[in-house]
Amino acid sequence: LKTAIGKSHAKIIFFGEHSVVYGQPAICLPISKIQTKVTITKTNAPQTIQSRYFDGKLIDMPNNETGIQLLIKTILTELHQENVSFNIKIQSEIPSERGMGSSAATAVALIRALFHFFEQPLSHSELLRLADVSEQYIHGNPSGLDAATVSAKAPIWFIRGRRLQTVPITKNAFLVIADTGILGQTGLAVQHVKSQLASSTSAETAIERLGENAKSARECLTTGNFKKLGTLMNNSQNLLAKLGVSHPTLDLFAQLAITNGALGAKLTGGGMGGCLIALTQDKKTAQQVADILIKNGAVNTWIEPLKSPDHKG
Ligand code: PMV
Repeated sequence: LKTAIGKSHAKIIFFGEHSVVYGQPAICLPISKIQTKVTITKTNAPQTIQSRYFDGKLIDMPNNETGIQLLIKTILTELHQENVSFNIKIQSEIPSERGMGSSAATAVALIRALFHFFEQPLSHSELLRLADVSEQYIHGNPSGLDAATVSAKAPIWFIRGRRLQTVPITKNAFLVIADTGILGQTGLAVQHVKSQLASSTSAETAIERLGENAKSARECLTTGNFKKLGTLMNNSQNLLAKLGVSHPTLDLFAQLAITNGALGAKLTGGGMGGCLIALTQDKKTAQQVADILIKNGAVNTWIEPLKSPDHKG
């Protein structure tokens, strides 16, 4: 093809960050309106790439971008297309290092675009296998949760090493996602939880409770009990704060969200920065919460309906 486009979107962890590392379940949500788009155009020049970090020849990409370079090389080798000339343009609305899956979303959109460009079929398992090439390079030992969710349409029930399941949502509610503007520190937070577990039994109990909350949350989503779901979010936030992975700004945002009508609020992803998520019954309250958080320093907010893709109304 002369031009090919591949897309993907952001993700958040609704329940189960950190406890998922220790075998507990997590619920992850695709955030369809925050998108990443990759456009590949045939050229006569050497292979080039344009992204928010780099604009130039593919072979000149700096070290921190080599996960993407490695992924492109792997695909071109597998498809026997090493010598093709093209420009790859990466456009992403997903902020990086906020627990929203930006690196996995870039990988997924890029893989889709390249397979489209070469007019090759791409299965979902093939997509996840390839996304893991750059994710392994960038994150060391990722659970695969990010790539699975940024390529999914429906909410995902994720247990490490098990087959993915989707979570049906019967009724509609709204989620406010608020970016604190503070970089999340997933690696540091994961290490911190590990050392807590080595030294205190209360950390072990917190991990188990976080897992229990994910299980109860799944039931609430199925029955439409959003009030209880909000309580579970607040409880998870307290447990995560006790584990030491919250941040004063996240704590403040959670409190503001609740006093302004949210049913519950918690951090999402690795924590120590990144984003807060708040649950509201209706869109008007979601907007109210978003406005308050912006007034108090959030650098961006998004309102996302909490629903299954086939949900009517
Ligand atoms: O910050 P994120 O969205 O990449 O999420 C990290 C989730 C953890 O459970 C803290 C770590 C992991 O590997 O699952």
